[in-house]
Amino acid sequence: MFLERFRKTHIPPAEFCAWTVNPERCTGCGLCVQTCPGNLLELADKSPRVKTTYRVGDLEFKVGCVGCYNCFSVCPEDAIRITGRYRVPRGLYKTLTEPPFFPNPFREKEPRPFVELEKDLTEMERIIYKRRSNRLYNQKKQVPPELVHRVLEAGRFAPSAGNTIPYKYIVIQDRALIDEMTGEIVPILRRFNKIYLGRRLWNKILVWIMAQVAPEGMDQRIHAGIYTVANLPGREIFHHAPTVILIAGDKRGASDYRVDCAITAQNMMLTAHALGLASCFIGYSTALNFSRKMKKKLNIRWPYKIVTSIILGYPKIPSDKAVARDMPPIEWHPKNKIDE
Ligand SMILES: Cc1cc2nc3c(=O)[nH]c(=O)nc-3n(C[C@H](O)[C@H](O)[C@H](O)COP(=O)(O)O)c2cc1C
Repeated sequence: MFLERFRKTHIPPAEFCAWTVNPERCTGCGLCVQTCPGNLLELADKSPRVKTTYRVGDLEFKVGCVGCYNCFSVCPEDAIRITGRYRVPRGLYKTLTEPPFFPNPFREKEPRPFVELEKDLTEMERIIYKRRSNRLYNQKKQVPPELVHRVLEAGRFAPSAGNTIPYKYIVIQDRALIDEMTGEIVPILRRFNKIYLGRRLWNKILVWIMAQVAPEGMDQRIHAGIYTVANLPGREIFHHAPTVILIAGDKRGASDYRVDCAITAQNMMLTAHALGLASCFIGYSTALNFSRKMKKKLNIRWPYKIVTSIILGYPKIPSDKAVARDMPPIEWHPKNKIDE
């Protein structure tokens, strides 16, 4: 495992999901194509399909579905099926999770479909399983401040190390300001993306070094996402959502202030979902930390630093379905009977 860390850092060869659409159900609405965060779907004769290669300038990459199920969750006709999984067999990005399956909280030997299982769950569990990142917004309808306040208030009651509440929220409902932020983020992300996608020897060496130092920024799925939102027509960093909430962490927070920021954000997203709002984490907003102009404009100075952001809005199409997810390793001490 130790040596794995140094191998296959740059666009590691991967296995992808099998993605199928039921032609009898599919109406060719194209919502799945619009929402796919990696731009991996295309419409051919009004029928969606997965691309097998991805073109960036004159470079061509082998790609496929990575199984985020975003298309599945927005499909109004329930026409999409995803099987198999995204898996990297070797190298630094070697997959350590087990294959995905739908929620099975009772560990049933013959798992029931979610619609049957749902009635035995608490409301909280239903929200957790059915919340999805929504990337398709009704751009004409703003979220009223009262509702934003309800979301923020849920964030305030998240646990934080030492009860320090080490963050501030910056709520942006001004379209021009969101566009200005996008204008600053895009060139930064494009530069980063260009280094990753380049095929020259220096690109590979630089990516290798960066992957050793900060492996979280060099996963190929992140770069497919960056390429999509920073380059393709109709796509946007904040998915055209009318409200952006930046979460600026206070570096003086006890323990790890970034963990506290993530928890407050998740509290807000679950509440947003319960209120019928659409939401999505936007980690790419951290690029604003490199923009002196925006930091000044948004009053982000010591001790604050943008840790993440969430977007809110009314959904263009509800995204409220349970999906399959990989199983992370679970290690019990002592061993648990149900795992045998
Ligand atoms: C820390 C963090 C950062 C994320 N950043 C982005 C982002 O910048 N853009 C985006 O479209 N989705 C972003 N996402 C959403 C993930 O892609 C999404 O949660 C994942 O694919 C699982 O889908 P689900 O939320 O529907 O379960 C982010 C999620 C997290 C937790």
